[in-house]
Amino acid sequence: MANTQDKFKQVISHAKEYGYIFSSSEIYDGLSAVYDYGQNGVELKNNIKDYWWKSMTQLHQNIVGLDAAILMHPKTWKASGHVDAFNDPLIDNKDSKKRYRADVLVEDYVEKKLEQKAQKEIAKAKKRFGEKFDEAQFVATHPRVVKYRSQSKEILERLAKSLTNEDLADVKALIEELEIACPASGSRNWTDVKQFNLMFGTKLGASAESATDLYLRPETAQGIFVNFANVQKTGRLKIPFGIAQIGKAFRNEIVARQFIFRQREFEQMEMQYFVKPGEELKWFEYWKKQRQAWHDSLGLGKDNYRFHDHEKMAHYANAATDIEFDFPFGFKELEGIHSRTDFDLKAHEELSGKKLQFYDHEEGESYTPYVIETSIGLDRMFLAVFSSALQEETLKDGSSRTVLKLPSILAPVKAAVFPLLKKDGLPEIAEKIVEDLKWDFNIAYDEKDAVGRRYRRQDAAGTPFCITVDHDTKEDNSVTIRNRDSMEQKRVKITDLKQILSAELSYKKWFNN
Ligand code: GAP
Repeated sequence: MANTQDKFKQVISHAKEYGYIFSSSEIYDGLSAVYDYGQNGVELKNNIKDYWWKSMTQLHQNIVGLDAAILMHPKTWKASGHVDAFNDPLIDNKDSKKRYRADVLVEDYVEKKLEQKAQKEIAKAKKRFGEKFDEAQFVATHPRVVKYRSQSKEILERLAKSLTNEDLADVKALIEELEIACPASGSRNWTDVKQFNLMFGTKLGASAESATDLYLRPETAQGIFVNFANVQKTGRLKIPFGIAQIGKAFRNEIVARQFIFRQREFEQMEMQYFVKPGEELKWFEYWKKQRQAWHDSLGLGKDNYRFHDHEKMAHYANAATDIEFDFPFGFKELEGIHSRTDFDLKAHEELSGKKLQFYDHEEGESYTPYVIETSIGLDRMFLAVFSSALQEETLKDGSSRTVLKLPSILAPVKAAVFPLLKKDGLPEIAEKIVEDLKWDFNIAYDEKDAVGRRYRRQDAAGTPFCITVDHDTKEDNSVTIRNRDSMEQKRVKITDLKQILSAELSYKKWFNN
C-alpha cells in the first residue's frame, strides 16, 4: 500500500468486495454519505456493539441500558439547544451555485496551501539527511516551515474566534483575504456566510394542516436525559449511575466525505454517567481511562490513538476531550468524552415542568446531577477496526497475501470448516463439525477450490481460524486448525474444537488484554 490515499481506496474497495459495506441504493447510483452494511459488515457491526454494550452494562453494576425512540417530542430539541445552535456556517458561490462549509474551505486552504508545503520541505530534508535527520529541530528552525506553520496557526485561531463570536462577516472576510476560490468553478464570487441547521425535519400526522414538525434525532443522548427519572426511579439507582444506549442518529452534513467517517445516517454508542455536582472532573478522568482501556483491549495499536483536549468548549461543557484515531486519512475524532454539567437535565426540567433531580438519602437533599458523557460513533469504530486490520503481507516464499487481521472477538465468522476434497466422506464430517459448533459460534462451510485458495479467501474476509478435514480425520478424529495471523497449523481432536474456540473468544480474556 504505497500511500495513504491508495490505502484508503483499498479499504473502500475491500469493504465492498468482501460484503462489508455497499453504497446505499447503489443500483440508483447511491445516495451521498449513506451506506449499507453487507453480510459481513452487519456481523462486524453487531460484534462491536456487543463488545461495547457488555463492557458498559454487564461489567458495571451501576450502568443500565435504554432503547429510546428516534422520534422525540419537538420540545426536546429546543431544550437541548439543537434548534438554536446545532448549525454549520455555509457559503454559496454565486457563479457555480455550489454550497460549502465556510470553515472547511478555510481548513482545506490551510491543509493544501500551507501544511502540505511544510510536509514537502520535511520530506525533502528527510531524504537529504537520512538517518541523521532530527525532525523536531528542523520543524522548529527551518524558516519556510516555521512561516507556513505560524500562518496556519494564525488563520485557524482567527477562524475559531470568529465562529465562537458568531462573527460570520469575519469568516467571509477571511475567505476573501486568503483568495479562496470555489473548487468547482475557480470563481471568488461568494455570498455572505449563513448558519444552517443540521437537523433533518419530518412530519407526524396524515394531513398537511394538522401535521406536527418533528426532527430525526441528531444524537442519542437526549433520549437518555428525558428518561432520567423513569430509569432512576424504576431501577432504584443511586448516584453515581449510568444509562447506556446504542442507536441511529441523523445529521444533514454538508461536507459528507471520507466514506463512513462522516455520514448523514449513522449510529452512536453513548453513555451518560450521572454524578454528584463537584465530583464531575474526578469521573471525567475515570472515564477517560476506562475508555482508553476498552480501546487498548482490542489491540489496534496504542500508537494509533491520541487524546485531543478541547480548548473551545460547547456551551454546556466544563471539560471535553476527543479520542482520535489514525485513520487512513490521518488522526481524526473517534470518540468524545464530555463533562456536560447539569445543562441538559436543568433545561429539560425548565421546559417540561417535570422535576429531574435525585434525592440523596445520605445528604438529605435533592440536587440535579452532573453528567459525564462517553460518545463513540459505531461507524467510525468500524472504520478504525477495519482499516487498521487490512494488511498486505509478503510471505517467506516471496508471495504476498491480503489479510484482514480483525480482532477475533469482533470477526464476523469465527471459523471456516473445509473438507480437503469433495469426496470420500470428508464433506459429511466437515458438515457435522459445522452442525456441532454453530450453536456457539458463527461458522462457515467452504468446499470450493484448492485449500490454499480457500485459506486466502478466508484471510481476506477476516476469519481467524480455518479447520480442515482430511483423510487422517477418518482414522483419528483429528483435524488441522490454522491461525489466520501466524498461519501456524496444528493437529487437534474434533472434540477439543469447541474448547479451543471458546478460550480464544472469551470476553474475559479480551477485556483483560
Ligand atoms: N452526544 C454527543 C455527541 O453527539 P458528537 O461529537 O457530535 O457528540 C459523537 O458525536 C460521536 O459521534 C463522534 O465522536 C463520532 O464518532 C460520531 N459522529 C458524529 N457525527 C458523525 C457523522 N456525521 N457520521 C459518523 N459518525 C459521526
